[in-house]
Amino acid sequence: MDKSLKSTLLFSCVLISLFVSSSAQTCSSYTFSRNNIFSKCNDLPVLNSFLYWNYHPTTGTVDIAYRHSSVTSSQWVTWALNVDKSGMIGAQCLVACQNTSGQVHVYTSPVTVYDTTMPAGALSFNVWNLSAELINNEMIIYATLELPNSRTRFNQVWQDGPIRGNIPGKHATSGANMRSSGTVDFSSTQTGASPSGGGAAGFPGQGRRNVHGVLNAISWGTLMPLGAIIARYLKVFKSADPAWFYLHVTCQCSAYIVGVAGWATGLKLGSDSSGTANQTHGNIGMVLFILGTLQLFALLLRPKKDHKYRLYWNIYHHSVGYTVIILSIINIFEGFEILDPEKKWKQTYIGILIFLGFNAVMLEAYTWYIVIKWKRSSSEQYPSVENGSTIGVNGYGIRSQQAV
Ligand SMILES: *[C@@H]1O[C@H](CO)[C@@H](O)[C@H](O)[C@H]1NC(C)=O
Ligand SMILES: *[C@@H]1O[C@H](CO)[C@@H](O)[C@H](O)[C@H]1NC(C)=O
Repeated sequence: MDKSLKSTLLFSCVLISLFVSSSAQTCSSYTFSRNNIFSKCNDLPVLNSFLYWNYHPTTGTVDIAYRHSSVTSSQWVTWALNVDKSGMIGAQCLVACQNTSGQVHVYTSPVTVYDTTMPAGALSFNVWNLSAELINNEMIIYATLELPNSRTRFNQVWQDGPIRGNIPGKHATSGANMRSSGTVDFSSTQTGASPSGGGAAGFPGQGRRNVHGVLNAISWGTLMPLGAIIARYLKVFKSADPAWFYLHVTCQCSAYIVGVAGWATGLKLGSDSSGTANQTHGNIGMVLFILGTLQLFALLLRPKKDHKYRLYWNIYHHSVGYTVIILSIINIFEGFEILDPEKKWKQTYIGILIFLGFNAVMLEAYTWYIVIKWKRSSSEQYPSVENGSTIGVNGYGIRSQQAV
């Protein structure tokens, strides 16, 4: 058992470090298939989008690349400057999609009405060297733009939607698709992963949001439940005493440290954006921080195992602990809704949950098997097992006898 438990822990560590290393992709870490080098980039806050550019002040032009990841061949994508207005009407679009002949088609389209199928047309400024490629579910549009009136600061809009035949259909009118606008300043000196204020005015960049998501999914969402599993199931084995206790404390403490860092990044993000979804997410985050801190204090106040209040302490510690785990998982899925990351993130986290859940179920069954075996065999070796009725409450009776 010790061996399989060790490998379980090891596997979890590997999984977690994989999760971290595949973490927060930001614009500055991307290599283009054409080896283009762009000196500036922004992580746009929604729709897995990134904007790269080189600004040429002498000619008043800018070379841009717009990258939209997680695109299927039945979707169109667009990136646009809106020179005089903001939002959709007036957007000077660069549109790309895979057409029915299987080729990537890219063209320009000025939007004048809401109910548009984005027909091709000339923009209000010159566009050269327009091209696009669809690689590994990433659509990238390249172009050189002549900036009107030598301005450098514009409203920008980006979007995706379904393609029917060769005709772009209406984009979704909720969630991230309604938040995909902001401003861009091509003369800005800020660049990289997540310039403050992000790619769009008032919204934090995708990079910072991803960091927040990864920190919290690891701490609250993975380490905390793992620590609870260690405590609940390792405790039963005499040989794991008191190792389980130190493992449990180490796991929860590091989860708490990373979790508080994640919570702090969330506070910053929360102050940079608004919306009721964000508010609920933020409130649950606050409750989690308070309950997590209470658990730390619980450790300091823990009565000795034969103390008459120990039972109450156990009830308190377990109920707060399980509440934290359940709320954490709820809040992580709430976060997925807000962040709207690539599907693989949510899938990875669901995979971790299934893995933890599977182990918990197996260990639960194994524990019951051991407990029943004890009950049947010599009662001298484990006198506490005589009280069979406590097994009814998930063997807590046995556990509290064995606890350090
Ligand atoms: C698809 O796009 C390519 C490249 O723009 C173009 O040459 C071709 O005619 C398009 N095919 C159809 C059916 O529109
Ligand atoms: C378009 O691309 C060609 C070849 O890469 C380049 O020589 C030319 O300068 C570009 N045109 C503009 C206006 O950037």
